[in-house]
Amino acid sequence: MDKKNSLWENQYLKTGQLWASEPEAALAKYVSLVSKDKKVLDLGMGEGRNALYFAGQGFKVAGTDFSTTAVERCKEKAEQLGLEVHMSAGNLKDYEIAPESCSLIIMANVLNFFRDREIDMILKKVEQGLQDGGLLYLNVFDSYEPGMQKLKEHGSEVAPGTFYRKQTDSYVHFFTCEELEEKLERFETIHKSDYQSLDLSHGEPHVHSGVELLVRRKCQPFV
Ligand SMILES: C[S@@+](CC[C@H](N)C(=O)[O-])C[C@H]1O[C@@H](n2cnc3c(N)ncnc32)[C@H](O)[C@@H]1O
Repeated sequence: MDKKNSLWENQYLKTGQLWASEPEAALAKYVSLVSKDKKVLDLGMGEGRNALYFAGQGFKVAGTDFSTTAVERCKEKAEQLGLEVHMSAGNLKDYEIAPESCSLIIMANVLNFFRDREIDMILKKVEQGLQDGGLLYLNVFDSYEPGMQKLKEHGSEVAPGTFYRKQTDSYVHFFTCEELEEKLERFETIHKSDYQSLDLSHGEPHVHSGVELLVRRKCQPFV
Protein backbone atom coordinates (compact mmCIF):
# COMPACT_ATOMS: atom_id res chain seq x y z
CA MET A 1 0.00 0.00 0.00
CA ASP A 2 1.53 3.41 -0.92
CA LYS A 3 1.57 6.41 1.44
CA LYS A 4 -1.36 8.17 -0.24
CA ASN A 5 -3.52 5.10 0.06
CA SER A 6 -2.49 4.48 3.68
CA LEU A 7 -3.25 8.14 4.52
CA TRP A 8 -6.90 7.53 3.68
CA GLU A 9 -6.98 4.01 5.04
CA ASN A 10 -5.69 5.28 8.41
CA GLN A 11 -8.37 7.98 8.52
CA TYR A 12 -11.05 5.31 8.12
CA LEU A 13 -9.44 2.94 10.63
CA LYS A 14 -9.42 5.67 13.32
CA THR A 15 -13.21 5.65 13.56
CA GLY A 16 -16.20 3.40 12.91
CA GLN A 17 -17.73 5.88 10.48
CA LEU A 18 -15.78 8.80 8.99
CA TRP A 19 -18.45 10.61 6.97
CA ALA A 20 -22.15 11.34 7.42
CA SER A 21 -24.74 8.87 6.13
CA GLU A 22 -26.87 11.41 4.23
CA PRO A 23 -26.25 12.01 0.54
CA GLU A 24 -25.27 15.46 -0.71
CA ALA A 25 -28.47 17.53 -0.58
CA ALA A 26 -28.02 18.82 -4.15
CA LEU A 27 -27.90 15.25 -5.49
CA ALA A 28 -31.14 14.36 -3.73
CA LYS A 29 -32.71 17.61 -4.96
CA TYR A 30 -31.93 16.89 -8.62
CA VAL A 31 -32.42 13.11 -8.60
CA SER A 32 -35.29 13.43 -11.09
CA LEU A 33 -32.82 14.72 -13.73
CA VAL A 34 -30.80 11.50 -13.64
CA SER A 35 -31.67 8.92 -16.29
CA LYS A 36 -32.09 5.30 -15.17
CA ASP A 37 -30.98 4.04 -18.62
CA LYS A 38 -27.32 4.10 -17.62
CA LYS A 39 -25.48 3.74 -14.33
CA VAL A 40 -24.51 6.15 -11.57
CA LEU A 41 -20.76 6.03 -10.84
CA ASP A 42 -19.29 7.31 -7.57
CA LEU A 43 -15.53 7.96 -7.83
CA GLY A 44 -13.83 8.24 -4.42
CA MET A 45 -17.07 6.98 -2.90
CA GLY A 46 -15.79 6.74 0.69
CA GLU A 47 -18.30 4.81 2.80
CA GLY A 48 -20.80 5.19 0.00
CA ARG A 49 -23.37 7.67 1.31
CA ASN A 50 -24.16 8.93 -2.21
CA ALA A 51 -23.87 5.54 -3.92
CA LEU A 52 -26.24 3.93 -1.41
CA TYR A 53 -28.74 6.76 -1.84
CA PHE A 54 -28.93 6.18 -5.61
CA ALA A 55 -29.09 2.39 -5.19
CA GLY A 56 -32.02 2.97 -2.83
CA GLN A 57 -33.73 5.02 -5.53
CA GLY A 58 -33.53 2.11 -7.97
CA PHE A 59 -30.47 3.18 -10.01
CA LYS A 60 -27.73 0.83 -11.21
CA VAL A 61 -24.74 2.01 -9.16
CA ALA A 62 -20.98 1.43 -9.21
CA GLY A 63 -18.21 3.01 -7.21
CA THR A 64 -14.58 2.89 -6.26
CA ASP A 65 -12.28 4.16 -3.53
CA PHE A 66 -8.65 3.83 -2.47
CA SER A 67 -9.66 2.57 0.97
CA THR A 68 -10.56 -1.11 1.35
CA THR A 69 -12.06 -0.29 4.77
CA ALA A 70 -14.38 2.32 3.29
CA VAL A 71 -15.42 -0.03 0.48
CA GLU A 72 -16.05 -2.86 2.98
CA ARG A 73 -18.23 -0.52 5.05
CA CYS A 74 -20.24 0.37 1.98
CA LYS A 75 -20.62 -3.33 1.10
CA GLU A 76 -21.90 -4.10 4.61
CA LYS A 77 -24.43 -1.26 4.50
CA ALA A 78 -25.60 -2.32 1.05
CA GLU A 79 -26.14 -5.88 2.31
CA GLN A 80 -28.03 -4.67 5.39
CA LEU A 81 -30.27 -2.54 3.18
CA GLY A 82 -30.67 -5.22 0.50
CA LEU A 83 -29.14 -2.92 -2.13
CA GLU A 84 -26.81 -3.69 -4.99
CA VAL A 85 -23.72 -1.53 -5.56
CA HIS A 86 -20.85 -2.74 -7.75
CA MET A 87 -17.77 -1.53 -5.94
CA SER A 88 -14.06 -2.05 -5.95
CA ALA A 89 -11.04 -0.71 -4.08
CA GLY A 90 -8.38 0.96 -6.20
CA ASN A 91 -6.97 4.16 -7.60
CA LEU A 92 -9.65 6.03 -9.50
CA LYS A 93 -6.97 7.21 -11.96
CA ASP A 94 -6.83 3.60 -13.20
CA TYR A 95 -10.57 2.98 -13.09
CA GLU A 96 -11.88 2.23 -16.55
CA ILE A 97 -15.13 3.90 -17.52
CA ALA A 98 -16.76 2.52 -20.65
CA PRO A 99 -17.67 5.29 -23.12
CA GLU A 100 -21.14 6.79 -22.58
CA SER A 101 -21.93 4.23 -19.85
CA CYS A 102 -23.01 6.63 -17.09
CA SER A 103 -25.96 8.95 -16.55
CA LEU A 104 -24.30 10.55 -13.50
CA ILE A 105 -20.73 10.58 -12.23
CA ILE A 106 -20.16 11.75 -8.66
CA MET A 107 -16.89 13.12 -7.30
CA ALA A 108 -17.80 14.46 -3.88
CA ASN A 109 -14.83 15.99 -2.05
CA VAL A 110 -12.33 14.07 -4.17
CA LEU A 111 -10.90 16.13 -7.04
CA ASN A 112 -8.70 18.26 -4.77
CA PHE A 113 -6.41 15.29 -4.16
CA PHE A 114 -4.78 15.28 -7.60
CA ARG A 115 -2.28 17.34 -9.57
CA ASP A 116 -3.40 19.57 -12.41
CA ARG A 117 -2.54 17.17 -15.24
CA GLU A 118 -4.22 14.30 -13.38
CA ILE A 119 -7.35 16.41 -12.92
CA ASP A 120 -7.50 17.06 -16.67
CA MET A 121 -7.01 13.35 -17.40
CA ILE A 122 -9.77 12.37 -14.94
CA LEU A 123 -12.20 14.98 -16.28
CA LYS A 124 -11.57 13.80 -19.84
CA LYS A 125 -12.27 10.20 -18.81
CA VAL A 126 -15.41 11.32 -16.96
CA GLU A 127 -16.67 13.28 -19.95
CA GLN A 128 -16.17 10.29 -22.24
CA GLY A 129 -17.93 8.04 -19.72
CA LEU A 130 -21.08 10.16 -19.64
CA GLN A 131 -23.98 9.57 -21.97
CA ASP A 132 -25.22 12.52 -24.01
CA GLY A 133 -26.68 14.95 -21.48
CA GLY A 134 -25.14 12.95 -18.61
CA LEU A 135 -24.48 14.74 -15.33
CA LEU A 136 -21.34 15.33 -13.29
CA TYR A 137 -21.50 16.24 -9.61
CA LEU A 138 -18.42 17.89 -8.09
CA ASN A 139 -17.67 19.30 -4.71
CA VAL A 140 -14.20 20.89 -4.30
CA PHE A 141 -12.29 23.17 -1.95
CA ASP A 142 -11.52 26.52 -3.57
CA SER A 143 -8.66 28.97 -3.24
CA TYR A 144 -10.30 30.61 -0.19
CA GLU A 145 -9.92 27.35 1.78
CA PRO A 146 -8.07 28.17 5.03
CA GLY A 147 -6.00 24.97 4.62
CA MET A 148 -4.47 26.47 1.47
CA GLN A 149 -3.18 29.51 3.36
CA LYS A 150 -1.44 27.22 5.87
CA LEU A 151 0.21 25.24 3.07
CA LYS A 152 1.36 28.50 1.42
CA GLU A 153 3.18 29.41 4.65
CA HIS A 154 5.10 26.13 4.43
CA GLY A 155 6.27 27.03 0.92
CA SER A 156 5.33 23.74 -0.71
CA GLU A 157 3.45 25.21 -3.71
CA VAL A 158 4.68 23.29 -6.77
CA ALA A 159 2.28 24.89 -9.30
CA PRO A 160 -0.40 27.59 -8.91
CA GLY A 161 -2.81 26.24 -6.28
CA THR A 162 -1.07 22.83 -6.07
CA PHE A 163 0.85 21.80 -2.94
CA TYR A 164 3.09 18.83 -2.21
CA ARG A 165 2.69 17.20 1.20
CA LYS A 166 5.96 15.42 1.96
CA GLN A 167 4.67 13.50 4.99
CA THR A 168 2.13 11.67 2.92
CA ASP A 169 3.87 11.98 -0.47
CA SER A 170 0.68 13.47 -1.85
CA TYR A 171 -0.61 16.54 -3.67
CA VAL A 172 -3.57 18.76 -2.95
CA HIS A 173 -4.99 21.31 -5.38
CA PHE A 174 -7.30 24.25 -4.64
CA PHE A 175 -9.45 25.54 -7.49
CA THR A 176 -10.14 29.11 -8.55
CA CYS A 177 -13.54 29.94 -10.07
CA GLU A 178 -11.96 30.77 -13.45
CA GLU A 179 -10.08 27.48 -13.49
CA LEU A 180 -13.22 25.47 -12.80
CA GLU A 181 -15.07 27.33 -15.54
CA GLU A 182 -12.28 26.57 -18.00
CA LYS A 183 -12.02 22.90 -17.06
CA LEU A 184 -15.79 22.47 -17.32
CA GLU A 185 -16.35 24.56 -20.46
CA ARG A 186 -17.84 21.57 -22.27
CA PHE A 187 -20.55 21.25 -19.60
CA GLU A 188 -23.54 23.45 -18.83
CA THR A 189 -24.27 24.39 -15.24
CA ILE A 190 -27.42 23.15 -13.54
CA HIS A 191 -26.46 24.04 -9.98
CA LYS A 192 -23.55 26.04 -8.57
CA SER A 193 -23.09 27.01 -4.99
CA ASP A 194 -20.10 28.64 -3.28
CA TYR A 195 -19.95 27.74 0.37
CA GLN A 196 -18.10 28.65 3.52
CA SER A 197 -19.04 26.29 6.33
CA LEU A 198 -17.95 25.24 9.79
CA ASP A 199 -17.08 21.52 9.80
CA LEU A 200 -18.02 19.88 13.09
CA SER A 201 -17.81 16.32 11.76
CA HIS A 202 -14.19 15.50 12.73
CA GLY A 203 -11.31 16.94 14.77
CA GLU A 204 -11.46 20.52 16.06
CA PRO A 205 -14.21 22.66 14.46
CA HIS A 206 -12.74 24.19 11.29
CA VAL A 207 -13.94 26.24 8.34
CA HIS A 208 -14.03 25.00 4.75
CA SER A 209 -14.48 27.07 1.62
CA GLY A 210 -15.54 25.46 -1.61
CA VAL A 211 -17.74 25.13 -4.65
CA GLU A 212 -20.45 22.59 -5.35
CA LEU A 213 -21.43 21.98 -8.98
CA LEU A 214 -23.89 19.86 -10.88
CA VAL A 215 -23.16 20.13 -14.61
CA ARG A 216 -24.45 18.49 -17.77
CA ARG A 217 -22.34 17.25 -20.68
CA LYS A 218 -23.45 19.43 -23.54
CA CYS A 219 -21.81 17.98 -26.64
CA GLN A 220 -19.92 15.03 -28.01
CA PRO A 221 -16.88 14.12 -25.87
CA PHE A 222 -13.27 14.40 -27.02
CA VAL A 223 -12.02 11.77 -29.44
C1 LIG B 1 -13.03 13.48 1.55
S1 LIG B 1 -13.32 11.80 1.19
C2 LIG B 1 -14.91 11.84 0.42
C3 LIG B 1 -15.64 10.52 0.44
C4 LIG B 1 -17.01 10.52 -0.26
N1 LIG B 1 -16.93 10.95 -1.63
C5 LIG B 1 -17.98 11.38 0.50
O1 LIG B 1 -18.21 12.53 0.10
O2 LIG B 1 -18.51 10.91 1.52
C6 LIG B 1 -12.22 11.54 -0.16
C7 LIG B 1 -12.20 10.09 -0.63
O3 LIG B 1 -11.47 10.00 -1.84
C8 LIG B 1 -10.72 8.81 -1.82
N2 LIG B 1 -9.58 8.99 -2.74
C9 LIG B 1 -8.65 9.97 -2.72
N3 LIG B 1 -7.79 9.81 -3.74
C10 LIG B 1 -8.20 8.69 -4.41
C11 LIG B 1 -7.72 7.99 -5.55
N4 LIG B 1 -6.63 8.39 -6.21
N5 LIG B 1 -8.39 6.89 -5.95
C12 LIG B 1 -9.49 6.45 -5.29
N6 LIG B 1 -10.00 7.08 -4.21
C13 LIG B 1 -9.35 8.18 -3.77
C14 LIG B 1 -10.31 8.64 -0.37
O4 LIG B 1 -9.98 7.30 -0.05
C15 LIG B 1 -11.56 9.13 0.35
O5 LIG B 1 -12.45 8.08 0.64
